[in-house]
Amino acid sequence: MKLKTFQPEDIAGKRVLVRVDFNVPLTGDGKVSDSTRIKAHVPLIEELSKAEAKIALCSHLGRPKGQVNPKYSLKPIAEELEGIIGKKVAFTSDCVGTAVSSAIESIQPGGLAVLENLRFYAEEEKNDAAFAKKLASPFEVFIMDAFSAAHRAHASTRAVVDCLPSFAGPLLIREIEILSETRDNPRHPFVLILGGAKVSDKIDVIENLLSKADTIIIGGGMSFTFLKSQGLEIGHSLCETEKLDFARAMSEKAKKQNVSILLPTDVLAASEVSAEASPKTVPANAIPPDLMGLDIGPDTRKIFSEALESAKTVLWNGPMGVFEMAPFAGGTKAIAEQLVKITGNGATTVIGGGDSAAAIAQLGLENEVSHVSTGGGASLEFFEGKMLPGVEPYII
Ligand code: 3PG
Repeated sequence: MKLKTFQPEDIAGKRVLVRVDFNVPLTGDGKVSDSTRIKAHVPLIEELSKAEAKIALCSHLGRPKGQVNPKYSLKPIAEELEGIIGKKVAFTSDCVGTAVSSAIESIQPGGLAVLENLRFYAEEEKNDAAFAKKLASPFEVFIMDAFSAAHRAHASTRAVVDCLPSFAGPLLIREIEILSETRDNPRHPFVLILGGAKVSDKIDVIENLLSKADTIIIGGGMSFTFLKSQGLEIGHSLCETEKLDFARAMSEKAKKQNVSILLPTDVLAASEVSAEASPKTVPANAIPPDLMGLDIGPDTRKIFSEALESAKTVLWNGPMGVFEMAPFAGGTKAIAEQLVKITGNGATTVIGGGDSAAAIAQLGLENEVSHVSTGGGASLEFFEGKMLPGVEPYII
């Protein structure tokens, strides 16, 4: 999938509006606790700055439901960005109107401003054309760089495209290039690793990739619905009863298509989800009624790692256990370490955003795999085979 990008003459000395995704986690006292998404836009900011463009970065933060709410102000993010790029970043108290036009007027060529939260206006999420026009009015060019918000058809990701000459930014292009290669043209063997709590979150991904994958590894909370669908005892592990039929049907379909589905053979189980738990290793087909599986066990780690050994492409979405708690982080760590190893041997390893990205970052291994997507929901929808509304306008 190729996207339309800008040429030097499209940006040189122009007033450029950029849609970024600065929806980052903040600490209780309003400081940025993970700046990965901010840093991901720095190459574009530097390129625009060098071209002496006047740059305005617009984003949402959280879900303020169309109301002004200081808790969701982008001001701390503007300050964080200032530290990252080592130059002055102006902040505008509104994302539309005179606050923006006068800030753009007064910044020097190559300078930049961060605009206040787009979602302080209900029109943003309604993809409102009049709001998009207001947002666009001080500018000459629009660049969409927010892959992780590209699954949203909002005024700043979609309607704005009708108001200005619009281009895809380098982060959006890189994400789409790597993710579409993985989804549409993977080198085989292609192994899909799925985890996380719910089967229901991954149904469309499984359906879309079943015919492309050679092996599907299933761990995390969602594996228990699959185990239960085979009539196994899962204790009081997480189970989506209404998805048992789906799990059964998928296992049948996979068998017919010669795709192997690997499920845990042993798990670390405890009576409750607690960082103080002392888990027991138990067989995945006989989890005692008073225990729940919270991570994959040592045999499973070995089996899953062996299945990954010869993979040429791996897509990983969802942790193998409750990795945020030390007693249940080992399974996710084992998989991450195996991905690092096979990346070194030439495999393409792609990590979906959200929890899996957080897990790999927690382990400090984010630079040791081929690609960690900045998009949680966006990458999931992309792998479901959906057309993302924030990408569609740039496809050439
Ligand atoms: C994300 O964090 O996945 C994006 O920033 C989109 O946020 P949203 O789910 O609130 O639209």
